[in-house]
Amino acid sequence: MSYNTFGHMFRVTTWGESHGPAIGCVVDGCPPRLSLSEADIQPWLDRRRPGQSKFTTQRQEADRVEILSGVFEGQTTGTPISLVIHNTDQRSRDYGDIAGRYRPGHADVTYDRKYGIRDYRGGGRSSARETAMRVAAGAVARKVLGQGIRIRAALVQVGAHKVERARWDWDLVSRNPLFCPDPVALVQWEDLLADVRKAGSSIGAVIEVVAEGVPPGLGAPIYGKLDSDLAMALMSINAVKGVEIGEGFAAAALTGEENADPMRMRDDMLEFASNHAGGILGGISTGQPVVARFAVKPTSSILTPVPSVTRSGENVDVMTKGRHDPCVGIRAVPVGEAMMACVLADHLLRHRGQVGS
Ligand SMILES: Cc1cc2nc3c(=O)[nH]c(=O)nc-3n(C[C@H](O)[C@H](O)[C@H](O)COP(=O)(O)O)c2cc1C
Repeated sequence: MSYNTFGHMFRVTTWGESHGPAIGCVVDGCPPRLSLSEADIQPWLDRRRPGQSKFTTQRQEADRVEILSGVFEGQTTGTPISLVIHNTDQRSRDYGDIAGRYRPGHADVTYDRKYGIRDYRGGGRSSARETAMRVAAGAVARKVLGQGIRIRAALVQVGAHKVERARWDWDLVSRNPLFCPDPVALVQWEDLLADVRKAGSSIGAVIEVVAEGVPPGLGAPIYGKLDSDLAMALMSINAVKGVEIGEGFAAAALTGEENADPMRMRDDMLEFASNHAGGILGGISTGQPVVARFAVKPTSSILTPVPSVTRSGENVDVMTKGRHDPCVGIRAVPVGEAMMACVLADHLLRHRGQVGS
């Protein structure tokens, strides 16, 4: 049994723990003769790296990726691509006091109950450190997808505060550490996050991921639907508690007329007048942008003591010290993009395998 692998033809396996010597992944199924070097992967990792602003954890990890296999003379060879990042900031002493206590909202209690053993240093395998390898794999996936498919994500809500879509500016997203597309919301969020951090508290967020240039036809009935694979991939990110495609939960409040995406032919091309479906019908891409959103819970590590229990069954109150993000939704933005890239790369190869290009 293996639960550390996802994808069918573009297959990603991650390994490693937060405070082990290294984390890594194996990307199997990548087509040969794609140009690939560390320089193609590193910029994506740099966007997820901690310690880049006062709004994310001050844990300092360089997250330098190294390609160990699957690339020869700058090109993929069609064999497994192994990527590794050495952990450089393993301060186990920050976590020693929670070795025998279960942190509320973390996976400590469930890992222990399931396996009877857990690496308590920084959450071990349940730590979001693992998501660095998803981002690395996502960079390889982007190579498979090519320049024609563009995947971008933005933070669209922090706590109860949403962006105003009329002010959406993609250029702004790449110029601010919160990945915010709205200049007004950005200022509001900065103040809010400063207060949350000062209070030793945390706050949740919603991220929107958009893939443009996706050709029609990716995804398959019935258990190979593009939307169900996307939901699985996004839901598998740490702290994610909800996933929506297109109109998502809001579709329940619409009428059929409001939710319809009217079609017309223009210059021999099929055109949709709207995209409530989020670019997917019947589990298959329509050719419109694929739009997904995911909700991230507030960081569980907070300075307020919360009732919990110890491994040996005593009642205690747990306050989590250490270096934590007040809003883990921020660093989840590049992770969401990477998961979208991996799912699309997998479906592109699956589509070619079944239908041809
Ligand atoms: C990028 C990222 C960074 C995270 N950093 C932290 C953190 O510093 N502190 C914390 O309590 N949780 C953090 N989390 C969330 C935990 O990893 C997650 O809540 C925990 O493993 C339990 O899993 P679950 O919330 O999915 O049930 C982070 C999540 C992401 C996506």
